[in-house]
Amino acid sequence: MPVITCIDDLKQLYRRRVPRMFYDYAESGSWTEQTFRENVSDFANIRLRQRIAVDMTGRSTAMQMIGQDVRMPVAIAPVGLTGMQSADGEIKAARAAERFGVPFTLSTMSICSIEDVASHASEPFWFQIYTLNDDDFNRKIINRAKAAGCSALVITVDLQILGQRHKDLKNGLSAPPKLTIPTMLNLATKWGWGLDMLGTKRRFFGNIVGHVEGVSDPASLSSWTAEKFDHALNWDKIRKLMDMWGGKVILKGVLDVEDAEKAAEIGADAIVVSNHGGRQLDGAVSSIRMLPEIAAAVGDKTEVWMDGGIRSGQDVLKAVALGAKGVMIGRAFVYGLGAMGEGGVTKALEIIHKELDTSMALCGETGLGNVGRHNVLVPKGFLDAFA
Ligand code: GLV
Repeated sequence: MPVITCIDDLKQLYRRRVPRMFYDYAESGSWTEQTFRENVSDFANIRLRQRIAVDMTGRSTAMQMIGQDVRMPVAIAPVGLTGMQSADGEIKAARAAERFGVPFTLSTMSICSIEDVASHASEPFWFQIYTLNDDDFNRKIINRAKAAGCSALVITVDLQILGQRHKDLKNGLSAPPKLTIPTMLNLATKWGWGLDMLGTKRRFFGNIVGHVEGVSDPASLSSWTAEKFDHALNWDKIRKLMDMWGGKVILKGVLDVEDAEKAAEIGADAIVVSNHGGRQLDGAVSSIRMLPEIAAAVGDKTEVWMDGGIRSGQDVLKAVALGAKGVMIGRAFVYGLGAMGEGGVTKALEIIHKELDTSMALCGETGLGNVGRHNVLVPKGFLDAFA
């Protein structure tokens, strides 16, 4: 087993182990992938301010996210098809997150169902829904999340229509994979993954197949989703979903100050400054560039988090310095999961935690509550370059 020191090491292992179509699903953005790339490259433009001779004993990365104690303010983002990256992937990731002490979010488009994850987890997790035009489905799935004890609802607000990801179309992405010749040739090189998958029954979208009339296989699922994403979404409908849930709500996919103000006004407990990992509006600004302005506008009314581009603890520190009260990681945990299963998710969290703790200390801070704009150096004009 190679020595794993960083998230990129996990990514290399993940790439070798998991079928190409699922690697590509995670590792792509929409269209030209400009936003996908800039989410990462914009972090690299920000520098941390090194300080010396500050007592770093007794420091801690612990914080709260929507009132929940977290060992570091890094939640596992909802990621579709996680159970295809590793057999029973959502269960593995939920367990790793709860053992580590950070929140786990289950996607509606997961392979393991809400009930299945709940029966394998010992702590409440968060549940994510899309904005669908089917009230009956919304009500049922929200009730299932309540019955499973989920402690917050993450509403994805930037996916009324799907951004095109070229690789998914070229690969004929499906769960389980359709056995075309290129897919079979690729699967033949992924023995470990294949054996694990043969050992589980969880190979379809567990929250949907069998719960929605007329959806019994992946082919009917894709037409169902294409039909159900709500093109007529508006703020009233978002409010209605929040009311149906009646508990803590996180709105994920806010990238504009006016939208952030509206989200705060309707009572979101947190918003996630996000462009869906560069998977939706290609050409949108990176999340980290938008974060400071949004945090300044609404940070006193709602918790402002971000996602997109976090690949290290240094990135988490930069996000916190620029106003985030928390972040979500998607790809960083998927790399770990695909590489090494549950232990890989733990490894990803440990790597990020260690980097965050050490970098915070070397910046002269003993707690994330004191981290702020003074801890980073940003190129002149960087944050308002696209004003
Ligand atoms: C779904 O939310 C996706 O980005 O694939």
